[in-house]
Amino acid sequence: MAHMEESAANRTAGMNRRDFVAAAAVAAAGIGILAVARASAQATQPAAAGIDVGAKTDYSKDGPVMTWAVAPNHLIVVRESGKIYATTSKCTHKQCDVADDGTQFTCPCHHSAFGYDGAVVNGPAKKPLPRYAISTNGDGHVIVDTSKQFATADTWTDPASFVALS
Ligand code: FES
Repeated sequence: MAHMEESAANRTAGMNRRDFVAAAAVAAAGIGILAVARASAQATQPAAAGIDVGAKTDYSKDGPVMTWAVAPNHLIVVRESGKIYATTSKCTHKQCDVADDGTQFTCPCHHSAFGYDGAVVNGPAKKPLPRYAISTNGDGHVIVDTSKQFATADTWTDPASFVALS
């Protein structure tokens, strides 16, 4: 009788070990799947910096280009006064994307307005649209670096905040 109880105890212990090994294998496989899914998601997300917004020669007339004004980039490229610069499209009030009304940027959420230079024309927004670092690469393409901002008008003369047309 004692032998039978011991044998049953061993079987139970053996099953527990098998269950543990099986559970560990499932957990390891799950972690592997999560790692692959995470790597895949990272590969499909835009880079935080270095957005190619086309050839410098494509910017042939003054005004905003709204191509990248929505997710995931939220930026507007503007040609004005011999310069190309990039601002965020996110209103500085509560982050709605602004729109181009033909003369300025307007926010659909609470009606703030900004000049094409990013300066506040009407509130409730109080801060201008920050500009991003911008440059040209060896192929003559304009590259916007969203990791670096020029938040106030006094920083917009920084040569890293615009590309000169000439
Ligand atoms: S979010 Fe733009 S005015 Fe409020």
